[in-house]
Amino acid sequence: MALAASLELVADRCGDPTPLVYDRLFRQQPEMRDLFVNDHGSAARGHMLQMVLETLTNMAEGAAWPANMIRAERINHDQIGVPFDIFATFFSVVHETFRDAAGDAWTPDMETAWTTVLATAASV
Ligand code: HEM
Repeated sequence: MALAASLELVADRCGDPTPLVYDRLFRQQPEMRDLFVNDHGSAARGHMLQMVLETLTNMAEGAAWPANMIRAERINHDQIGVPFDIFATFFSVVHETFRDAAGDAWTPDMETAWTTVLATAASV
């Protein structure tokens, strides 16, 4: 599966993608740094990214639960001051981070898998 393969590729090349994703997010959207002020050791960031990757991988494989997970997190995050419209921003940043980190090894199938799953996530 191309999306899962892209995650493995980046893990092999770069190890933990957490700092790459959030550095890019905060470069593009500096105001989002304020949302994570309580996450001192970055554990919540890492945990959240793992959940996002698991959700998107399973969504790409056709599972039904990821749409419900996104709906649930939409409500949970609204309560901590994260509006739903920035979910798409975060997903795009994850996509761009993985594509850059993979470099020449990124394949057209991986690109298609990511654009397809992000369109599905946006339609939830
Ligand atoms: C499907 C999408 C998402 C999922 C599954 C998800 C999941 C999670 C989870 C599980 C946590 C708790 C982590 C922990 O305490 O260990 C969390 C916290 C958080 N998430 Fe998300 N999240 C999503 C989208 C987003 C987006 C788009 C943003 C905005 C950039 C965001 C911002 C935050 C913030 C600010 C926290 C609190 C961090 C802290 O404890 O200080 N999340 N998320």
